[in-house]
Amino acid sequence: MITHKNNELRLKDINKTITVRGWVHRRRDLGGLIFVDLRDLSGLIQLVFKPDNKDYQLAQTLKQEYVISVSGIVREREAKNKDLLTGEIEVDVTSLSILNTAKQPPIQIGYADNANEETRLKYRYLDLRKKTVNHFLLARHKIMQSLRTTLLKAEFLELETPILGKSTPEGARDFLVPSRLYHGNFYALPQSPQIYKQLYMISGLEKYFQFAKCFRDEDLRSDRQLEFTQLDIEASFYQEEEVISLVEELMKNVFLDVLKLEIKAPFKRISYQEALQKYGSDKPDLRYQLELEDFDHRPFNIPFLAAKITRKLTVNDGAHLTRKELDLLTAEAKKNHGDGLIFLKYQQEKLTGSILKFIENEKEFVKDNNLKDGDLLLISFSDDYEKASLSLGAVRKEIASKLALIKPEKLAFLWVVDFPLFEFSEEENRFVARHHPFTQAKDFRIEPKKMIARAYDLVLNGYELGGGSIRIHQQQEQEKMFALLGLDKEEVKNRFGFFLEALSYGTPPHGGIALGLDRLVMLMTNTSNIRDVIAFPKTQNARDLMLAAPSEVSSLQLEELGISFKKEK
Ligand code: AMO
Repeated sequence: MITHKNNELRLKDINKTITVRGWVHRRRDLGGLIFVDLRDLSGLIQLVFKPDNKDYQLAQTLKQEYVISVSGIVREREAKNKDLLTGEIEVDVTSLSILNTAKQPPIQIGYADNANEETRLKYRYLDLRKKTVNHFLLARHKIMQSLRTTLLKAEFLELETPILGKSTPEGARDFLVPSRLYHGNFYALPQSPQIYKQLYMISGLEKYFQFAKCFRDEDLRSDRQLEFTQLDIEASFYQEEEVISLVEELMKNVFLDVLKLEIKAPFKRISYQEALQKYGSDKPDLRYQLELEDFDHRPFNIPFLAAKITRKLTVNDGAHLTRKELDLLTAEAKKNHGDGLIFLKYQQEKLTGSILKFIENEKEFVKDNNLKDGDLLLISFSDDYEKASLSLGAVRKEIASKLALIKPEKLAFLWVVDFPLFEFSEEENRFVARHHPFTQAKDFRIEPKKMIARAYDLVLNGYELGGGSIRIHQQQEQEKMFALLGLDKEEVKNRFGFFLEALSYGTPPHGGIALGLDRLVMLMTNTSNIRDVIAFPKTQNARDLMLAAPSEVSSLQLEELGISFKKEK
């Protein structure tokens, strides 16, 4: 039986006889003494084996990552280590047992390590032994406990929903699971439990939450995984204000419980239009100023801007950016729906830049645009206001990190509200629901293009942390919504017939939200890589390197499922 966790022992424990266990982190043989740093999840403690120890020879065989148990007496150290909680003491070992040996690990755990991410993910179970890695998961645990406590106090029920279901329209591609019993039929893994949680409201369960696994077959980014976790919430009779204040309470408590940080609520709220206009983003980072403005190009007769919408960003002290850096910004603008980026520098009372030849009166231009010495003026352009804004918004983000404008300690929470209900999908050449098709419009009687959704997004430091809405609870309204989305009656019946029927038996008004748990943990632990906060993540190329998944399956399995593949030529 162990008596202590490693990092519990202090000077006050001197002369106690104790038993601890863990992994051999490091071993050093010095002047006849053998020192071992013993590691468990709590931390490190130093063990000493003296030459007269009955287990001295056994101690000489200890290697990295052996699992051992030792008993001994706590002594004060001669050379103290201030960096370690247990740095003032050591354990004078009286007996040692080796519980297991270990091969030389491909990842160094007790020593500086420069294994690449591929090796780290292949041997994730070893990587997770490191404190610098497993602290993300310990934080994740604490964050989940805090969130759960707040919701239980508010009388929410923790309820599960099925994983094998039917395709739900969250906007991404589904993962499909072929059915063995019904060849040619497929289950879909949930992109979110959206329909199920609404069915819970129809079932009269009133207040639901779940840490829900969601699956979306989309291209991965540093804040996106194929499978991720949402804190999914739904409540009957809740309106926007109730959802928003519940989420603010969750955020206040979790930052206090886990990081001892007091955050102020209510959070700022801005409309989607304002977010686009000022920041060129639906999830703006408000830790720095930098606001976009309209730019009127008409007085200058610039041929390639003739029919374009132009927006500008004035970057104080940005004129020193090099041509190469500006080219990278142009690429960023183009990657984000813009046609291009124009730049003008104002230095020592002189303007330089590509559109200079169209500007007749430099002085007036400088005055009109309120330029100061050292300023960089960036202008984006596109056929479309949204595109011109989004492209400059992406540039705004790059500039902020390049010029170190972001105050890392600042937390900028924000609600973005009043989203358009629909957006045009160029891929599908039709209107699609911006949030999802179960979201109510503020007014359903007006022209669809102008309809505003009763939806809200929670944004933190430029990340979309959560999104939700007040739902359609009337059958006719839901039918109208499907029609506006261009779904024909047959498709509606096949995909959502059961749901439309459920809505017709007295559905309470209801609303909810889902918070991206992985993103919350990322932001609370200061990492920009979502893989850090997931125990066994997929790579950027959607692979699990440890299991080597996805993988081929046996022909028997395929046969049972009635699946055969066309031979590739
Ligand atoms: P939405 O699609 O906005 O809403 O998702 C909610 C939150 O989930 C997180 N998220 C992701 N995190 C990691 N990887 C991904 N691929 C990923 N996709 C989304 C984000 C996002 O804000 N059913 C609705 C919610 C509702 O209306 O209640 C939904 O799923 O943080």
